[in-house]
Amino acid sequence: MTTPLSPTAFETLATLLKTRSGLIIGMDKLYLLETRLGALVKREKLGDLNGLAERLRRPGTDALAREVVEAMTTNESFFFRDDKPFHHFRTQALARLVAARAPGTALRVWSAASSSGQEAYSLAMIVAESTAVLSGRKVEIVGTDIAREQLTRAREGLYSQFEVQRGLPVQMLMRYFKKEDANWRIAESIRGMAQFREHNLLSDLRSLGKFDIVFCRNVLIYFDQATKARVLDAIAGLMPSDGLLYLGGAETVLGITSRFAPTANERGVYGVVAPASATTPHRVAAAV
Ligand SMILES: C[S@@+](CC[C@H](N)C(=O)[O-])C[C@H]1O[C@@H](n2cnc3c(N)ncnc32)[C@H](O)[C@@H]1O
Repeated sequence: MTTPLSPTAFETLATLLKTRSGLIIGMDKLYLLETRLGALVKREKLGDLNGLAERLRRPGTDALAREVVEAMTTNESFFFRDDKPFHHFRTQALARLVAARAPGTALRVWSAASSSGQEAYSLAMIVAESTAVLSGRKVEIVGTDIAREQLTRAREGLYSQFEVQRGLPVQMLMRYFKKEDANWRIAESIRGMAQFREHNLLSDLRSLGKFDIVFCRNVLIYFDQATKARVLDAIAGLMPSDGLLYLGGAETVLGITSRFAPTANERGVYGVVAPASATTPHRVAAAV
C-alpha cells in the first residue's frame, strides 16, 4: 500500500511545476500526478510521490525536475484544431499582412506551444496553398515547446493513422503525406517550412525575434491569471501593431491583459494594442 501524498510533498511538486512551467496543480488533480509521474517514480526506485518530492528537494536534481515538468505536460493536439482560426488565417490574415508589408519582407508565424507539430504543419499546408495571395512572399513558421519529446516528434513529422484522421481533410492527407508502414510521414516540402525549437513561455521570449502572427493555443489554460498576463504581455512585445494573436477556444485576453483586444466577430482572434505609454502621444497628437 502506498503512503498518501504528504502536504509537504504536494507543495514541493506543485511549486516546482508552477515555477518551471506555469502549470497549476490543485489537490483535485492528485490523480494526474500519480498517473503521469508513476513511470518516473518506478524508474528511479523512489517508492511513491513522497519519495520523488524528497529527492527533488535535494541539490543536483535539475535533470529530474525537467523530466517531471515534461511528464506533466498535456500534449494533446490535432491538425486544423477548431478549424475557425485556420480559416481566418487562410482567408484574412495572410492577405491583410501581405498587403501591409513592404515587398520582400517575410511574414513570421509562431506556434507558441507546438506540441507534436500539427498546428505548425496545418499553417504550413495553408501557406503552401496560398501562393496567389503570397505572390512570392516568404513565410517563416516557428514552433516552440517546453517538451523535448514533442519537439522530436514535430521535427520527425510522422503521425499515426489516428492522428491523421483527426481534423486533416483527406485531400490534404493524400497531397502532403506518404504512408510509411502503419504511419504517415509529412512531405519534405511542408516539413521544411517549419522549424521547431525548445523554448519555455515563462523565459525571456525576445531571442525568438518578432512575429506577425502568433498561435498560442491551449496552453494558457494551464496557467494562473498572473502567469497568463505575463506571457501575453511578453508575446505582445514581440508583435507589430497590426499583428494577430490566436488563442484556444477556452482562452481569452479579457480581464487578463490590455495588450490585446478581440477582433470583431472573430472568436479567438486578437489584435495588438499599444502599451499605455506608447498610446499617449497619439492621443495628444489627435487632440491638437
Ligand atoms: C495541449 S498542447 C497544445 C498544442 C497546440 N497548440 C494545440 O492547440 O493543439 C499544450 C502544449 O504546451 C506545452 N507547454 C506547457 N507549458 C509550457 C511552457 N511553459 N512553455 C512552452 N510550452 C509549454 C506542452 O508541452 C504542450 O505540448
